[in-house]
Amino acid sequence: MSKTYFIRTYGCQMNEHDSERIAGLLEMNGYARAQDPESADLVLFNTCAIRENADKKLYGTLGQMKRVKDARPELRIAVGGCQVQKDKSLVLEKAPWVDVAFGTFSVAELPRLLREREATGVPTFEFAEQTETFPSALPARRDDPFHAWVSVSVGCDNACTFCIVPFVRGPQVSRRLRDVLDEVRRLAEVGVVEVTLLGQNVNTYGRDLDGKPLFADLLRALDHIDGLRRVRFTSPHPHDFTPEVIDAMASSRVVCEHIHFPLQSGSDRVLKRMRRSYRSARYLETLSIMRGAIRDLAVSTDIIVGFPGETDEDFQATLHVVEEARFDSAYTFKYSIRPNTEAASMPDQVAAEIVAERYERLVGLQERIALEKNREMVGRHVEVLVEGCSKKDATRVTGRTRTNKIVHVAAGELMTGTFADVVIGDAHPHHLDGILA
Ligand code: 5AD
Ligand code: SF4
Repeated sequence: MSKTYFIRTYGCQMNEHDSERIAGLLEMNGYARAQDPESADLVLFNTCAIRENADKKLYGTLGQMKRVKDARPELRIAVGGCQVQKDKSLVLEKAPWVDVAFGTFSVAELPRLLREREATGVPTFEFAEQTETFPSALPARRDDPFHAWVSVSVGCDNACTFCIVPFVRGPQVSRRLRDVLDEVRRLAEVGVVEVTLLGQNVNTYGRDLDGKPLFADLLRALDHIDGLRRVRFTSPHPHDFTPEVIDAMASSRVVCEHIHFPLQSGSDRVLKRMRRSYRSARYLETLSIMRGAIRDLAVSTDIIVGFPGETDEDFQATLHVVEEARFDSAYTFKYSIRPNTEAASMPDQVAAEIVAERYERLVGLQERIALEKNREMVGRHVEVLVEGCSKKDATRVTGRTRTNKIVHVAAGELMTGTFADVVIGDAHPHHLDGILA
């Protein structure tokens, strides 16, 4: 009987996609997917390092895994991803019962590391500092037949002072335009109707390639792929958001009317200290140009509260921009100190109680705006791509609009991966309810 694996993924979509490749590699090497970690021969953790709680969680979980392994010594435990790239051999020092550790650039080495672990009886590891094969060249085992992630670039050339990503994902490396298009074409041929293009900073896509293709060129080219209905991308940096990209989005058939546009802070003083090169006025101006060009554009954002040195006045500026921008949704984060980053050594770290209080206020404001925006949808017809049965109620399915809003539809018979014409009946801050039109 073949060995079985179970993967637990933390962090962003880039990591979700890496996990698909890890699964693909394991299956190519004779492993089969286990239904749960309890029965798996190999449990793999694909880790994140973006905030400290992700860090803490991993070592807690590995502590629990030790007990499982004590009871079942043949269990193999592997850890990969961003936190492993950050901590390297520290992972094996803190959790010596781990069998295999591999960094973000070493995914392709996993089968070899697993074999060597069996041959030698000791933990194996690889923490390369740059990648040999572009990760997209690896096979992927996708969960959804109708949706796929497609990476356009890995790594990031920015140096935001709060961010660990450049340390764990390296400088930007773009994939050739032809390779991206070939992959999307192949996916569309097997029934994928929606792709999400992934890159740490998608709008600087191509800057490192011969001929310097633009992200806008890529978006335009995707319009001509048969069968493809929706294209999303994440995430762009406001600084590099060019008129060409707006134009390509506006004229595209497939590119969805949703953009994730990370603000981080509404205070120019804080933006400067974050080394984010735009200012709040420019941010709002770009937003208004985008909304003018793309009808019904939905906008989501990321905001950090409590960056070192953030004063009440700075925080007020963030609230002000949030009021002005009227985001459809926002991912809000308490600033988390990350090793090696510039902000970690800034002297004026904000007290936790103050951060908590500001955080609550920001979330409250954004919930109100999100609900108001969603209420504007009531009575409207939308196209919903059905993603599956509702977790809470089998008579309903859950799907997404082109604008990335989650809709629960009272029609349990709708098939996953199909499109439905839905009328919105009710609005909530984080989702909509609808019925078939
Ligand atoms: N603390 C809090 N939030 C962070 N993010 C990135 N680094 C940190 C940090 N040190 C947030 C940013 C980014 C999102 C992916 O995570 O808002 O856009
Ligand atoms: Fe994604 Fe960044 Fe977390 Fe890595 S550290 S998984 S790139 S969010």
